Amino acid sequence: EKGGWPSFMKKEISEEPEAVANTLRGRVHEGAVTLHELDGVAEVLQGVNRVIVLGCGTAAYAGMVGKYAVEKWARVPVDVELSHEFRYRDPVLDERTLVVSVSQSGETMDTLMAVRYAREQGARTLSICNTQGATIPRESDAVLYTHAGPEVAVASTKAFVAQVTALYLLGLHLAGLRGTLDAAGIAHQMAELEAVPAKIQSVVETASGRIAELAHWMSDTQSVLFLGRHVGFPVALEGALKLKELAYIHAEGFAAGELKHGPIALIEPGQIVFVVVPSPRDPSSLHKKVVSNIQEIRARGARVIAIAELGDVAVVPFADEVIRIPLAAPFFEPLLAVVPLHIFGMELATAKGLDVDQPRNLAKSVTVE
Ligand code: F6R
Repeated sequence: EKGGWPSFMKKEISEEPEAVANTLRGRVHEGAVTLHELDGVAEVLQGVNRVIVLGCGTAAYAGMVGKYAVEKWARVPVDVELSHEFRYRDPVLDERTLVVSVSQSGETMDTLMAVRYAREQGARTLSICNTQGATIPRESDAVLYTHAGPEVAVASTKAFVAQVTALYLLGLHLAGLRGTLDAAGIAHQMAELEAVPAKIQSVVETASGRIAELAHWMSDTQSVLFLGRHVGFPVALEGALKLKELAYIHAEGFAAGELKHGPIALIEPGQIVFVVVPSPRDPSSLHKKVVSNIQEIRARGARVIAIAELGDVAVVPFADEVIRIPLAAPFFEPLLAVVPLHIFGMELATAKGLDVDQPRNLAKSVTVE
């Protein structure tokens, strides 16, 4: 039940902190990852030489975020593929390939068919799923449940942060099995992950009001662009998807580095662009590069809404608006930066008088191919 909330979606966004906390619960002991549900496939996981993550929509974007972390920590190549594309291209699979499906419902037909195909071809299958006993986990060699709780709104929000959390647990578990991170390295990442729920909570509390105002004055906007880099890139894709499905506004997400290869031609005065800004504390030069992207689009008249870390002053002169997120290590920023984008999609749809829980033409679980 909605329990006094105006929509399931608003309730479910408010549950994003718990979705992460509940997915971690019982799976961390003194800094180590304990995933007893994967004990039966320990040997398989040790021998894996390749991971393919399958999903659709938001689940696929969670997979894209996961790819960066799993490759970095476990040093195993990871590909992410849309389930519905996967089996039509004769993929190369064998028993050392781990196919990780990501699905909130566990019933998405495209993903189920892809998992069946992967098994037939001899790959090992692991399901990351939010629904106990659903078809995809039943047909997989192992399952890692997300514990986001039932998600009623058609558009996925709290399931996304839980899926990313589960992929991170899997990445750290693989890193332990493969010896690519030592115990201290794993404990360090786990501590960062355990700090995420409180940080999401602070984003929900501090950003909601301002985003509702922004959404209100943007309610007749025709098009919104989203830019991000590294783990911020799938966050940009997720922000755009939410806007399309909830507010029926044309939206596109880009990798910021791709801008000059074409999309910058779209920038004209008044174009609204959300930019997920990497941390200035990150030793890579990505922060500087994204700030210079902001300058480029600003010079062409874009109105920039930056999602940036607290204390990042470099973005201030160039952004029309800065939405702040707490400090976090780079891999954990997506779990924070996605929250304002979820709120934005919901608020813009609300400002347009639309039903945020039941967008037109969509079903919660897509059980046809
Ligand atoms: C987007 C959304 C969809 C689902 C996709 C996969 O907000 O809800 O893109 O993420 O249909 O659904 P599951 O995770 O149930 O396989």
